[in-house]
Amino acid sequence: MNYEEAVELLKKHNQEQLLNFYNELNDSQKESLLEQISNINFELMQSLYENLYVKTLEENYIDPIENAVIKDKMSAEDKNRYSEIGASAIKNGELAVCSMAGGQGTRLGHEGPKGTFVVDIEPAKAIFEILTDKLKAAYKKYGVYINWYIMTSEANNDETVKFFEDNNYFEYSKEHIKFFKQGELPLLDFDGKIVLQEKGKIFRAADGNGGIFEALCRNNIIQDMQQKNIKYLCIGNVDNILINQVDSLLIGMMKEKNYNLASKSVPKKSATERVGVFGKINGQPAVIEYSDIDPEMARKTKEDGTLVFSESHFGCNIFSRELLEKIGNKKLPYHVARKKNMYVGANEEMLASIEANTYKFEAFIFDGFMLADDILIFQVKREEEFAPIKNKEGEDSPQTAKELYMNYVSNNNHD
Ligand code: UD1
Repeated sequence: MNYEEAVELLKKHNQEQLLNFYNELNDSQKESLLEQISNINFELMQSLYENLYVKTLEENYIDPIENAVIKDKMSAEDKNRYSEIGASAIKNGELAVCSMAGGQGTRLGHEGPKGTFVVDIEPAKAIFEILTDKLKAAYKKYGVYINWYIMTSEANNDETVKFFEDNNYFEYSKEHIKFFKQGELPLLDFDGKIVLQEKGKIFRAADGNGGIFEALCRNNIIQDMQQKNIKYLCIGNVDNILINQVDSLLIGMMKEKNYNLASKSVPKKSATERVGVFGKINGQPAVIEYSDIDPEMARKTKEDGTLVFSESHFGCNIFSRELLEKIGNKKLPYHVARKKNMYVGANEEMLASIEANTYKFEAFIFDGFMLADDILIFQVKREEEFAPIKNKEGEDSPQTAKELYMNYVSNNNHD
């Protein structure tokens, strides 16, 4: 795209401000800016802005989930049978795992990719090493190297790859680890204008963990899975140090009952816990995120005092390859977040604000669930599988996760 074409395109979409400083740029910066402009989906950005205030959740249409399979209530016989079916699928190479590691981890305040955060267990280990340990244990148990796909973002990909290289992939098989980048979307100011991070650089941010489906297709990961005859992908949050992604029991149950999608859950700790809850929106299985749920609905209790919306999504979901491909070919909705950012204003000054000043758009992984015919919700024990590291201090912090992890290790061994 040349300069004149860019001017025309921007005029058409009312985004001429992106070329405000063009004349001050050197040749390569100019070329780069034009390329960035040519990559923007202006129609999408416009419709995101126009639909900012469209309400997506209507409480009337949301019902709780009643049919989760509770691991603790399964018979020993069923557990054994499913575990055997799952184990042979794993030995057959049918399962791969994926870590979503493209997020910024702002709340934790850690400089660098979240997976590089060192947790003070004994001995101290980075999150990525803890996750690798689980795959090494699976190798011992099943005799196969499980393929591990790691989703990074533009912002943290190089640092993530370098971290693995510097640490010799924590002695896991390097050939079985593949990194792939998620997409990005521009940020808008409150007038719907795309903002500049620098005079020659459009401000973009990762498009949310729901960007994973498109990214799996675009980066040929689905193709790689097909070539390797991998049938299931367990996608997990990078920040849960107790995550159990190689779960023979659940894989066995999915296979036996023909599910394309399974999602693990734990009962919600309190009405205000920052987790999404499973529900049925207009009869379809879905997750209602903590940021979207109506507080009254979150507080609703049953006669026995337990929460009506209790079944919580904690970011450990298994998809069949076919379902991943199906979702990857569709556009998921975006959720909007109001964020504080520093960007270049019309008069060259860097605009900072003590309040939110930009819109960031993110797709959520669980919005892909609506494309599945059915979902198997599998309730597990929090103390066995969920130790998130989100905040610097307090709830869901390195300290709480460490305690959960150390307790677990002293009591059990995973699958
Ligand atoms: C997430 C879940 C929430 C769940 C909770 C459990 C979503 C949208 N929400 O909330 O339902 O109850 O975890 O702890 O999944 N990530 C990317 N790219 C992005 C954004 C995020 O890879 O653009 C990754 C993060 O690195 C992390 C995971 O997605 O591994 C979850 O993202 P995060 O922003 O931490 O979600 P929560 O708000 O904690």
